Amino acid sequence: MSTGTDAMSADRHLYRITGGMPLKGEVKVSGAKNAITKQMVAALLTEEPVRIANVPRIVEVDLVVGMLQQLGATVDWTGRHEIRVEAGTIADSGLAERYTGANRIPILMMGPLLHRVGEAVIPLPGGCQIGKRPIDYHLDALRQMGAEVIEQPTAVHVRTTGLVGAHIELAFPSVGATENIVLAAVLARGTTVIHNAAIEPEIIDTILMLQKMGALIEVQTDRRIVIEGVKRLRGTGHTAITDRVEAASFAAAAVATGGSVEVIGARQTDLTGLINSLHRIGGGFAETPRGLAFYRARDLTAANIRTDVHPGLLTDWQQPLVLLLTQAKGASIVHETIYEDRFGYTEQLRQMGARIELNTACLVGDSCRFANRDHAHSAVVNGPTPLTGRDLEIPDLRAGFAFVLAALVAEGTSTISGTRYLERGYEDPVGKLTAMGGQVETAPVG
Ligand code: EPZ
Repeated sequence: MSTGTDAMSADRHLYRITGGMPLKGEVKVSGAKNAITKQMVAALLTEEPVRIANVPRIVEVDLVVGMLQQLGATVDWTGRHEIRVEAGTIADSGLAERYTGANRIPILMMGPLLHRVGEAVIPLPGGCQIGKRPIDYHLDALRQMGAEVIEQPTAVHVRTTGLVGAHIELAFPSVGATENIVLAAVLARGTTVIHNAAIEPEIIDTILMLQKMGALIEVQTDRRIVIEGVKRLRGTGHTAITDRVEAASFAAAAVATGGSVEVIGARQTDLTGLINSLHRIGGGFAETPRGLAFYRARDLTAANIRTDVHPGLLTDWQQPLVLLLTQAKGASIVHETIYEDRFGYTEQLRQMGARIELNTACLVGDSCRFANRDHAHSAVVNGPTPLTGRDLEIPDLRAGFAFVLAALVAEGTSTISGTRYLERGYEDPVGKLTAMGGQVETAPVG
């Protein structure tokens, strides 16, 4: 039987992309991976069924389906993009070892499992290509809420006789830690206050779902989230927001290829930082009845970019923007402040002809946590540079789309491996790109 983890370890196919065609037409953006996978975990907080709509058909969702089923939940696809999770009973407090290093979702199951069965054994998420990604904030918060945390080499074991509310100050507004605390606090005894919380749109969307389940959560000014614990939560139905990373990817693709694309389902409110950057570089946008249209408005020119926590510029938009900047006239500077090691992918772009130099200094705006720590977290991009098609190997999900984009812009044909990373987060990328005129086909591995 093929498990979710098998799907992570091998490519199903390669992509063969011939560049030079402007992308034109329309594309429908899927539901937000980074909201839905968390909402599926939130469904563990109730014995009643939870229905989630706008769920993308991606490997990452399949993985979470497998995890929930292993814990004893019933998970059914009730439509092409609709899922029903019913966690009437929890059969297992330990998530299987095969999920070690799988993704960031298992660590979010600690709170729900502590409430349902008093303990959880969760395989560690591991580091990855973009930075160390520790989970110290998650574990410290659970300790403050009354959990005993036993750290093992490849797993973490938590147990409690009852979680209690606490005042938790996050050293940095971590998305995952904020979600973890919210999921633990909704059924805890008393009130929890998260200071310096992350307020990304995906978190707010999950909070909206939890509110429909009966949770009491207030998002206050100054990054404070206040959660008043309730005794029980009920089932609900929720339609998740669309994926602002996928929307941004197609927006950048339209501008980079000199095309024009209506991104159906794109929401301006989730994309304001991206739209500002596109505007500075030479991209235009217009509201349409179904979403937003993106196009190249003028010759592209250099711009400076600094990623940040929401409402700043999302780190997951950095890679398509860097690719776009290789086609812009002048020297652009990009300062990555969320992950210390998120420019590794640029080496392969250099081999295609891009002129990108990395720097350990904080080159745009205020200095960040990585100042004076010898991390190459700024990039200087000189353009415009013609790119030449070549063999590319995707190192992680978001770099993956930048490579696809590079191949669409390049002269000649590129063969891309590591497509399993891209397909963790993008639904039917080949179908969507070919429908807009991209010359993209799949090819057998090997
Ligand atoms: C989420 O990761 C997303 N992943 C990421 O998207 C996204 O880039 C990131 O948020 C920022 O928006 C999911 O939602 C599954 P963080 P997360 O905790 O929650 C440090 C994608 O491709 N930190 O906000 O893991 C951490 O090292 C992915 O879809 C600690 O030091 O990100 C990082 O520097 C890539 N200790 C910073 O905080 C902790 O305990 C922000 O990480 C937790 C985090």
